[in-house]
Amino acid sequence: MKAIYLLIILLLSLQSYSIYALQTHPLAKLWKVNDTEVPILLEFEKNLTAIDDILRPILEEDEFISSFGGTYIDQIEDKLYLVVNTVNESKVDQLLKLPKINPYEDFLYFFKTNNSMSRMKYNFDKIAAITQSFKPKDVLIYIDMSLNNVVVYLFNALYFNNTKYINAVDPFNPSIIYEYTPSVPQNLLRPQHDARFLNIRILGGDGLYIKNKNNDSDNWLCSAGFWTSDRYNPNKKYIIIAGHCVENNFDHAMVFFQPWNSTQPYVSYIGSSVYNPINFYDIGIIHVENEDFFPIPAIKNTDADQYKELIIIDGIPVFSHGVHICKSGRTSHFTCGYVQGLNGIYSTGDRFALEIIITSTDVKGGDSGGPVLSFVSPQDLFLVVVHGIVINRGSSAQSIDTIFHVIKENTGLDLTLYQQVH
Ligand SMILES: *[C@@H]1O[C@H](CO)[C@@H](O)[C@H](O)[C@H]1NC(C)=O
Ligand SMILES: *[C@@H]1O[C@H](CO)[C@@H](O)[C@H](O)[C@H]1NC(C)=O
Ligand SMILES: *[C@@H]1O[C@H](CO)[C@@H](O)[C@H](O)[C@H]1NC(C)=O
Ligand SMILES: *[C@@H]1O[C@H](CO)[C@@H](O)[C@H](O)[C@H]1NC(C)=O
Ligand SMILES: *[C@@H]1O[C@H](CO)[C@@H](O)[C@H](O)[C@H]1NC(C)=O
Ligand SMILES: *[C@@H]1O[C@H](CO)[C@@H](O)[C@H](O)[C@H]1NC(C)=O
Ligand SMILES: *[C@@H]1O[C@H](CO)[C@@H](O)[C@H](O)[C@H]1NC(C)=O
Repeated sequence: MKAIYLLIILLLSLQSYSIYALQTHPLAKLWKVNDTEVPILLEFEKNLTAIDDILRPILEEDEFISSFGGTYIDQIEDKLYLVVNTVNESKVDQLLKLPKINPYEDFLYFFKTNNSMSRMKYNFDKIAAITQSFKPKDVLIYIDMSLNNVVVYLFNALYFNNTKYINAVDPFNPSIIYEYTPSVPQNLLRPQHDARFLNIRILGGDGLYIKNKNNDSDNWLCSAGFWTSDRYNPNKKYIIIAGHCVENNFDHAMVFFQPWNSTQPYVSYIGSSVYNPINFYDIGIIHVENEDFFPIPAIKNTDADQYKELIIIDGIPVFSHGVHICKSGRTSHFTCGYVQGLNGIYSTGDRFALEIIITSTDVKGGDSGGPVLSFVSPQDLFLVVVHGIVINRGSSAQSIDTIFHVIKENTGLDLTLYQQVH
């Protein structure tokens, strides 16, 4: 009896060990498959994204814009499809006859919906204008393709009375989502003290301790985004982070490195923030003054048994809804989810962040500033592209193309992503 019992225990532990051991890659965890299946699924997702890149501009044409309601990648009965929201079903044949689309018929899933792209864009623009005039606090707006509607996402719904704003947007029938979170800013954490760790490499997602030069009790925790260098002065190195991490009542925040799982306040001085704040966008720039820190084109995932450092080979925007997207940050470390919206607007009352990526990735206080990325190569699961940085709310991110052009327009700095030549 005892022997059988032991055998069962052994089998159970072997089983859980093997499940664990096979799911080391972040995408294996997200997709709930074992590691060996990740390359083929990633390749398939990339194929659907490529089809979406062909289809999207066609659906924007006058001929189709009021007959279809956007596209997104989703699983339907165990298979991944490019879902095409369809308002006027008699247009489907016309679309499938196009030589550019015809070869991909089997990858498309036409789903009957009510809202066309032209209607959603019209409603989004109206709601965006109302948002800019009402200046509601803590509101995110975006088009969610799988909901086939404009979403108005209200954070702190108990705390802020947005009744007038909600009444004003109501004629445009948005899907209103209320979130009842506490009123303290979600992504700023108070540091605690202890002493461990010393490490002189800063990767995307690493922890930062940010200190107000003029006020010893004004300290915040955020995450490092990615390394950049100045195109005209390549020796000058900068780390991009979220704007709200450095602009809280200080002109020039002092930034220290604080490794994951460490709560020691001052580990190593990195540098100070420059050119803050940049209006309408949640973007901050740290000038790296400490020469002990050299740029590394990598992102941190050190909780994992493998794929501990992911290599950045490019920085490009996201264009497709429903594709995987991950982030790295000091609090919830490396997590993955899906793209839920693009080109969103975040209103905090006195200011807005535009061109926001909305994701379902788990984000917690302190993750702000960390990089948002996706895997690019079925052949090499270490390689990633950066899409932006985590900002204030709702697992949202500021898009990388926006980051670079806004910095250039507002500061004159012409920054370029530090990346591995591939
Ligand atoms: C991975 O999982 C699939 C089923 O999902 C299974 O068929 C395959 O044998 C597994 N691979 C390994 C190496 O265990
Ligand atoms: C992706 O597309 C390429 C080129 O069309 C094709 O050879 C490959 O088999 C596709 N991969 C998957 C997983 O469907
Ligand atoms: C749907 O498309 C067909 C074919 O182009 C067109 O004749 C019809 O008027 C459209 N219906 C609506 C409601 O727009
Ligand atoms: C679409 O419109 C029809 C008719 O107006 C309505 O019955 C249906 O509930 C609507 N569907 C959605 C998803 O809103
Ligand atoms: C919110 O504001 C509206 C109109 O401004 C007012 O009628 C309502 O009583 C307020 N609600 C609360 C809970 O304060
Ligand atoms: C210093 O920072 C703390 C925490 O943010 C704040 O409560 C306090 O008012 C600040 N003191 C001054 C003089 O600004
Ligand atoms: C750091 O903390 C995470 C949980 O937040 C844990 O999973 C991980 O093992 C810790 N790493 C170290 C080196 O203590």
